[in-house]
Amino acid sequence: MDESITPPQNIQELETAYNFADNILKFDATHPRNLQFYKNVYSQNPEYILLFKPAGEVGGVIFASDKDRGTLLIGELAVSETMRGRGIGSKLLSEMEEVALKHDKKEIFLAALETAEKFYIRNGYFPKLYVQLDGNNRLDEITSLSATPVSWKNTGDGFSKVVLDTVKIDKELQKNFEDKLGAHTQYLFFKALTL
Ligand SMILES: CC(C)(COP(=O)(O)OP(=O)(O)OC[C@H]1O[C@@H](n2cnc3c(N)ncnc32)[C@H](O)[C@@H]1OP(=O)(O)O)[C@@H](O)C(=O)NCCC(=O)NCCS
Repeated sequence: MDESITPPQNIQELETAYNFADNILKFDATHPRNLQFYKNVYSQNPEYILLFKPAGEVGGVIFASDKDRGTLLIGELAVSETMRGRGIGSKLLSEMEEVALKHDKKEIFLAALETAEKFYIRNGYFPKLYVQLDGNNRLDEITSLSATPVSWKNTGDGFSKVVLDTVKIDKELQKNFEDKLGAHTQYLFFKALTL
């Protein structure tokens, strides 16, 4: 592992890393993974959190957790604004892929911010489009708008949710769902891991 990329040495450093991510990503009240969540992750798998700390100062962080037995979820990735574009984000991502392999994971999964979509494509991740409508039993409205293969769908919890296997980033399709159905959309990214 790169010497300047390590797990937090203690809980204080974990808190510093979390606050660093919060300052950049600006978590709102609905953010699903809070500091307590990562304290639990850290107590079981310290290496699921990695810091880039070249000279004592945190310059970048990545946070992961188990999605399921075979899949590692990357929850947050952030590099300080002054250090972007130098390969640090890509390095944090590839170090976490190594961690995932050590934990026998077969796949990495994450939900991206729109500004980071190209970054994940360049790092070998495959996009799928997540489309969500308010209300149950509206799956047909989503699937009838496009012939894109459906890789997952679910309804019953007050929402209708579909993941479409778009293979590439298709902004036009995404805009269609937003404009025609008022849908919430986001690209999800997957990478299959091989030794
Ligand atoms: C996305 C991010 C982690 C990339 O980190 P990084 O250290 O700049 O990554 P790399 O140097 O390995 O790759 C940089 C590439 O990412 C792209 N990029 C994506 N978002 C960027 C941003 N906000 N600022 C600068 N570059 C960004 C650049 O275009 C650059 O592409 P290039 O190499 O063709 O010029 C970093 O830009 C960041 O922290 N952004 C804000 C938070 C965020 O979006 N996190 C991801 C959440 S899903």
